[in-house]
Amino acid sequence: MKKIFCLICSLLFIVCLVGCDKEVAPANDETVISREENISKEDNIGIVSEENTEVSDKSEKVENVKNNNTALSEGTLNNESEQGKKILLAFFSRADEKYSVGTVDVGNTEIMAGFIKDYLGDKADTFKIDPETPYPADYKKCTEVATKEKDEDSRPEFKNASSLDLSQYDTIILGYPIWWGDVPMIINTFLEKYDFSGKTVYLFNTHEGSGNSGTYSSIKSKLFSADVNTNGLAIRGADVRKESSRSTVENWLKGLGL
Ligand SMILES: Cc1cc2nc3c(=O)[nH]c(=O)nc-3n(C[C@H](O)[C@H](O)[C@H](O)COP(=O)(O)O)c2cc1C
Repeated sequence: MKKIFCLICSLLFIVCLVGCDKEVAPANDETVISREENISKEDNIGIVSEENTEVSDKSEKVENVKNNNTALSEGTLNNESEQGKKILLAFFSRADEKYSVGTVDVGNTEIMAGFIKDYLGDKADTFKIDPETPYPADYKKCTEVATKEKDEDSRPEFKNASSLDLSQYDTIILGYPIWWGDVPMIINTFLEKYDFSGKTVYLFNTHEGSGNSGTYSSIKSKLFSADVNTNGLAIRGADVRKESSRSTVENWLKGLGL
C-alpha cells in the first residue's frame, strides 16, 4: 500500500510539476508574448507614438498649417488689410484769386485732387492740408506771405494735423501748387510731421509754367525712407478746368497701376 501511495504521490508530484511547468510556460509565453506585444505595443506605441508623433506632428503640422494659415491668413489678412489699406490723397490748394483763372471757389490743385478721388473712389481717403492761418485771398498779398515764409524757411501749421494717422496708409498721393519754383512751405510741414518710412508716395501738382520745378526729386531726397515715385503729374492751373484734364489724370493713375 505504501508503495502504491508513494507511486501515486510521485505521479501527482510529476503531474504537478508538469502542470506547474505548463503554467509557467504560458506565463513565460505570456511574458514573451507580452514582451512581443510590448515590443509591438512599444513598436506600436512607437508607431502609435510615432503616429501620435506623426499625428501630433501632423497636428503640429496642422497647427503649423493653421498657424501658417493664421499667419498666412493674418498675412493674407495683413496683406488684405495691406491691400485693403486705403490710399491717402493729401493736397494743399488755395482758392480765391489765381494767377490766370481769376477768383475761384475751388483751387486748381483741389480740382485735380477731385479727379483723383473720383477715379479712386473708396480706395482713397482725402486730407486737405488746410492752413491754420489762411493765406490772403488777394493774389499779390498771398505771394508776399509766401515769399516771407520761404525766406524764413518757416513751417506753417495746418488744421487737424494730429487727427491724421499715416500708419493707416501705405500709399500717399500728395498734391500741391508750385510756389516760387518750389513746394509751398506748408508741404514741408506735412512731409516732416509724419513717418513716411516704407510708404509709397506719388506726386502731382499744378503750376503756371514751371512744371514740377524739380519738386519730385527734392521730395524724394527729403523722404529718403519712402518709395517716392517721381513719375508725377504736373498740369497747368489754367488747363485744370478743361475736361481733358480728367482723362489725363485717369491715364496717369492707370499708368501707376492705381
Ligand atoms: C505764392 C505763389 C507763387 C507761385 N509761384 C509759381 C511759380 O514759381 N511757378 C509757377 O509755375 N506758378 C507759380 N504760381 C502759380 C500757381 O502754381 C498756380 O496758380 C497753381 O495752379 C495754384 O494752385 P492752387 O489753385 O491749387 O493753389 C504761384 C502762385 C502763388 C500763389
